[in-house]
Amino acid sequence: MPHPQILALGEPLLEFNAATEGPLADDAAFQLGFGGDTSNMVIAARRSGAGAGYVTRVGDDAFGHALMRLWEREGVDVRHVTGEPGGATGIYFVTRHGEGRHAFTYRRAGSPACRLSPADVPEEAVAAARLLHLSGITQAISPSACDAAFHAIDVARRAGTLVSYDPNYRPALWPVERARAVVLRTAELADVVLPNLEEGRLLTGLHEPEEVLAAFARRGPSIVALKMGADGVLLGEGGRVTHVPAHPVTAVDATGAGDTFDGAFAARLLDGDSPVEAAGYAVVAAALTTTGPGAVGPIPRLDTVLAEKATRPTSNGPHPRPA
Ligand SMILES: Nc1ncnc2c1ncn2[C@@H]1O[C@H](COP(=O)(O)OP(=O)(O)OP(=O)(O)O)[C@@H](O)[C@H]1O
Ligand SMILES: [Mg+2]
Repeated sequence: MPHPQILALGEPLLEFNAATEGPLADDAAFQLGFGGDTSNMVIAARRSGAGAGYVTRVGDDAFGHALMRLWEREGVDVRHVTGEPGGATGIYFVTRHGEGRHAFTYRRAGSPACRLSPADVPEEAVAAARLLHLSGITQAISPSACDAAFHAIDVARRAGTLVSYDPNYRPALWPVERARAVVLRTAELADVVLPNLEEGRLLTGLHEPEEVLAAFARRGPSIVALKMGADGVLLGEGGRVTHVPAHPVTAVDATGAGDTFDGAFAARLLDGDSPVEAAGYAVVAAALTTTGPGAVGPIPRLDTVLAEKATRPTSNGPHPRPA
């Protein structure tokens, strides 16, 4: 079997999404779903046509088995997923609190993914891949997982594998000072950096999107895509800055929109799109994921994205910004 084009490293989670509004009640019903930022990213990349594999540790429990079935259904290469006997795969609950507001409750501390270490990095597969993706969550869940992330980056850089990085800052997982140090260092080692505006402001201490983008770009990545929710993406590449407007949709649940952007963007870049073209595709894929509940269910496939994109051609296309 050939090595996949894209490899992602991180923690997958099972999602329990409350079907009804309000705090947990004894008649609450839950829709089972899947999450974990890097797992969402590889599924988005697969659905956009790229070959992709995942590197992680899950428990040898019903939740770990459900994730394995998901990846197998999606055609994600699971050769580098380790099932840990006795391990408790991480989960999270989503509750709804009106006007599209959601609250997340995690049970992930001590999960098998926290025991990721440099020994779990499949060096040959990373070197053979065209793109390695990881996130700040991969680095935040434990010191050994953080070491695994840096080791994978090192292997990728030596082999000429592109490094794609989403800071995905989660305050519950690590102190902001440590997040800032690790994220900004990782930005120096990555080729593609994909922060959202909120975390970008917090980590750089700057406010204007153009300034936040420039602060990441100065660290050396050749592409920075600053995700701004319903305001789309500010893309920096080769000294040029382009605003790619969001694709207009009625959003009901934005969970996983950023991860879908990351996966769709990577898939199109590897297929030969320019960064601006890839971002124009990825904003449509990301917008479509906000139109249904849960992170993974609504991630669209290539033909759906292309058909949706064709309904609104270039009237609202990318706008180069003066430098
Ligand atoms: N309401 C929306 N309407 C249209 N597109 C949206 C909307 N929300 C998000 N998107 C698209 O999804 C992209 C990523 O969303 P966002 O900026 O929320 O990323 P994020 O905060 O990293 O998400 P995540 O919660 O997955 O970490 C945006 O750049 C935009 O293109
Ligand atoms: Mg994000």
